[in-house]
Amino acid sequence: MAVTKPDVRIIATGLFTPPHAISNDELVAAFNAFVDRYNAAHAREIESGATAPLQPSSAEFIEKASGIKSRYVMDKEGVLDIERMTPRFRARSNDEISILAEIAVAAARDAMKAADLDARDIDGVICAASNMQRAYPAMAVEIQHALGIEGFAFDMNVACASAVFGVETGAGLIRSGARRILMVNPEICSAHLNFRDRDSHFIFGDVATAVILERADGAPRGEAYEILGARLKTQFSNNIRNNAGFINRCERETGEAADPQSAPFTDKLFVQQGRKVFKDVVPMVGDMILGHLDELGVAPGDVRRFWLHQANLAMNEFIARKVLGRDATREEAPVVLDEYANTSSAGSIIAFHKYRSDLKIGDIGVISGFGAGYSAGSVVIRKTA
Ligand code: COA
Repeated sequence: MAVTKPDVRIIATGLFTPPHAISNDELVAAFNAFVDRYNAAHAREIESGATAPLQPSSAEFIEKASGIKSRYVMDKEGVLDIERMTPRFRARSNDEISILAEIAVAAARDAMKAADLDARDIDGVICAASNMQRAYPAMAVEIQHALGIEGFAFDMNVACASAVFGVETGAGLIRSGARRILMVNPEICSAHLNFRDRDSHFIFGDVATAVILERADGAPRGEAYEILGARLKTQFSNNIRNNAGFINRCERETGEAADPQSAPFTDKLFVQQGRKVFKDVVPMVGDMILGHLDELGVAPGDVRRFWLHQANLAMNEFIARKVLGRDATREEAPVVLDEYANTSSAGSIIAFHKYRSDLKIGDIGVISGFGAGYSAGSVVIRKTA
């Protein structure tokens, strides 16, 4: 199928990077101090074989298994405090902006400044992220209010694929009449991560990204990437899961042990079967991108850049190899997860934000996100201005 006339374009992106970074060495030092303390406190049960000792983590393993060297967080002290191992945020009153809205607004302002737009130029706001701070009012409505945008706003969650689903949802709203849509991805992943879990304590970081979409009629005022097409896919899996939700308090047993290592606590945070995820998601995403490019009549070799979800370096390398039939260079598939770690839905948008200034008019790129659900999406774009 040939490319139909594109009707929506991306005209700007924005990025908010939290102020604090944690290196693998710092994270592992805190984790291992926690392990030593836990094992000492449970020495008798460990000795008798009733309890297994916790194993230490290693910075070498983390970099080798994931490609992650560092991550940004909204609160470093709480994460590295072995009494706590959870970020500490001051409770805010209802009269103050929520922390999730605050970082989304920072990314949105960055994008609006880049496109030289103000609130009156935008008709709607989508907040697309893996975790919303509360049930309601929607985070997007608070973000809309903070920015002074009229029109409408709503939240959506498709886990790590939220941003690509958000771009396609925004494009749909433009096709049905909106002039411009602001789509934001605030991800405070440190708040859903179990920093006491050796298998996953290193995976995530915090960030917020923003994308502005516009109806493609008339000449763009600045930079523009027309959307050639989007493809979305979901397939149910328990292999990445977070059971936190409003039903939890109804399920709680009285007198439940307050052991932070116990299931009632840990499954209300991010849990995954990492190996299974790897095995299932790589072919799913590779086939999706190949099928999508074929449908658009774009040869994989004609794609100048792949801005992939940043979950795991090997995963991205496999996906790019499946699509290209050879290894991708870092220029073709840029990596930000060494610095940012996995930032859920925001990862592919950070890559797009940071690695596109060298593209020429006519260059084609693919933005792709994938993760829990399973969920996956690809958006194929072409630089037009
Ligand atoms: N430090 C040191 N060793 C560790 C460790 C740590 N922090 N965590 C695990 N290990 C050990 C394991 O105990 C295991 O040891 P064994 O072989 O003696 O049993 C070994 O390292 C391999 O563990 P495994 O969990 O199989 O590692 P892996 O190579 O699969 O890498 C992931 C783990 C999570 C990095 C990898 O599976 C992955 O990235 N999967 C996809 C994740 C993903 O994208 N999720 C989506 C979220 S959106």
